[in-house]
Amino acid sequence: MMSDYESVYAQWQAGPETFWEEQAEAIDWMKPADKIFDAEAGVYGRWFAGAECNTCANAVDRHVEAGHGDRLAIIYDSPITGTKSQITYSELLKQVNALACVLSDKGVTKGDRVVLYMPMIPQTAIAMLACARLGAIHSVVFGGFAAKELATRINDAKPKMVIAASCGLEPSRIVEYKPLLDKAIEMADTPPETCVIFQRPQAEASMVEGRDIDWADAVSAAEGRTVEPTAVAATDPLYVLYTSGTTGQPKGVIRDNGGHMVALEWTMKNFYGIDPGDVLFTASDFGWVVGHSYIVYGPLLRGATTIIFEGKPVGTPDPGVFWRIVEEYGVKAIFTAPTAFRAIRQQDPEGEFIKKYDLSSFQTLFLAGERADPETIKWAERQLNVPVIDHWWQTETGWVMCGNPAGLGLLPVKYGSPTKPMPGYDIQILTDEGEPVTEPNVLGNVVVKLPLPPGALPTLWNADQRFRDAYLEEYPGYYKTADAGKIDEDGYLFVMARTDDIINVAGHRLSTGAMEEVLAEHPDVAEAAVIGIADPMKGQVPLGFVVLSNGVDRPESELEKEIVAMVRDRIGAVAAFRQLVCVKRLPKTRSGKILRATMQKIADKEDSPVPATIDDPAILEEVSAVLERRGFLSRPLEAKE
Ligand code: COA
Ligand code: AMP
Repeated sequence: MMSDYESVYAQWQAGPETFWEEQAEAIDWMKPADKIFDAEAGVYGRWFAGAECNTCANAVDRHVEAGHGDRLAIIYDSPITGTKSQITYSELLKQVNALACVLSDKGVTKGDRVVLYMPMIPQTAIAMLACARLGAIHSVVFGGFAAKELATRINDAKPKMVIAASCGLEPSRIVEYKPLLDKAIEMADTPPETCVIFQRPQAEASMVEGRDIDWADAVSAAEGRTVEPTAVAATDPLYVLYTSGTTGQPKGVIRDNGGHMVALEWTMKNFYGIDPGDVLFTASDFGWVVGHSYIVYGPLLRGATTIIFEGKPVGTPDPGVFWRIVEEYGVKAIFTAPTAFRAIRQQDPEGEFIKKYDLSSFQTLFLAGERADPETIKWAERQLNVPVIDHWWQTETGWVMCGNPAGLGLLPVKYGSPTKPMPGYDIQILTDEGEPVTEPNVLGNVVVKLPLPPGALPTLWNADQRFRDAYLEEYPGYYKTADAGKIDEDGYLFVMARTDDIINVAGHRLSTGAMEEVLAEHPDVAEAAVIGIADPMKGQVPLGFVVLSNGVDRPESELEKEIVAMVRDRIGAVAAFRQLVCVKRLPKTRSGKILRATMQKIADKEDSPVPATIDDPAILEEVSAVLERRGFLSRPLEAKE
């Protein structure tokens, strides 16, 4: 007998357009699609061509109109500030309307970009929804990024407006956003006309006359006003979210309105098993795709309740904070990154904090964003006694590519595998030459047969050619995920590593290329390379290598201090760049390409054949000796209990 998963997947395979047409019935459209999939439009085709809709109307208005205005939309819980609040769908509609009026009065209209530099407070979700209401395109920049990263994004998105809070809060410090924003605007070629500033009591931002307006003043003046949701094309962008590429220039991933709503709505029910009124706790950040999809849009489209958590899994105040939240709000499912559970496990190995709380509402734990090591999954299963679901996706796809669908009935778990492809995704393994790998368990490049499903990126912001080059060129007819992996005899996918220069630090996706650009700016550095090495808590952390310029002779520790400060200043604390070693030469191929993957394998003590193309194998021994001296020959991630 077929499982529900198998029959749904087979139904999609038999007729993708019919499948998505049926799923689209869950959404309110202002105009139906002329074509469910238009293969001629866009770079590889577009979903719901000709349709018109509004994402804010679907996420907010329709629940109020259906009589659910008193249901909680947002629960805000900030152990860092000791603040809690709740917002019903009716109240959310009022607040979104008022802010949308402020934006509209300042000239923000359909297609304009609005950059958001905001922390984990409800105002961030309200600002995203206000943009969506007007058909404006929001671009949320993670608060852990420094001024230069913000400036790069402002230059690419060319926003009419920036919305920022005066500060974000880390457990150990106040991160003042406003000076960073002012610096970024100074650096940017295309400054925004207006900045809306949400003042928080922890830090008062100074305002620039004629440009900055105060959120509270403007919104209270607009209280009670409403603006109708703007009809946008299903194919119009809802947001642009920048994600790390292989260079310092991040990629602007576009999410459209129609396909995104259809896909998220499908996942909420069928994958996460969340019904209207259920409480979903996604412990991530608005600045990442997980925050966009499962703190804001997914739960609100479904009419569920979302939790906005301003805290950390440990230390705010203790490793029991997730469980306190589950008990207090009747959370049905948690979604976070494995690193959060490694942190909790480290501080509460016996689950003493778990036992303190009533977890009877809690049904499933979802993990994504980085490889979920089996030891962490098994620990969480034992301690929580609920299914722990690893699922694999990317900023680009916006929703799960491969997973174990709680809403359809779980498949047997294989540790180390995020399970099976979801409808919409025909996942295959190709050799470097682009040949299909037909044997099971053979490692290769993980690709998705085109077209990508609704919700996945149609292209990059103002960069169709970069989109083709980065994702479609190498394997014609397929989307390149840039992950390496294998599929076993039962069709389970195992994702092993990235095939490019992206590293994953505490579930944060970072570009080693961007860090190398910063290292190379140091006047004493002739050449630089950055790799990700295994870390028992964060999964990976960056490690820098530099070759000093001729004649420079300086202590390694002094240089390390300066360069660590530079990376923090240029990219941000989130890069977690703390370690640097000096080497005489970098290992390269004869054509001059730095052998980063080989260096990483040495650091992680993995067996790896020396590439035949290496210029001088002796350099690898030098690198190995330096790593040994500094104690970097790493601890494995899956340390035995
Ligand atoms: N704004 C400003 N700074 C931030 C920030 C933000 N939103 N988020 C992180 N930072 C800073 C941290 O304060 C830290 O600074 P420091 O060097 O001064 O200590 C630095 O960036 C590195 O942060 P992080 O890698 O998160 O490490 P951490 O030690 O602060 O916390 C965990 C470790 C595991 C608790 C934390 O990474 C975590 O909660 N992870 C959850 C995973 C997650 O949300 N992933 C998102 C994708 S699902
Ligand atoms: P991001 O775009 O930040 O979501 O990062 C996407 C990348 O994170 C993927 O390409 C993978 O390399 C990695 N990743 C995300 N989820 C998983 C997972 N469940 N297992 C293994 N790797 C993952």
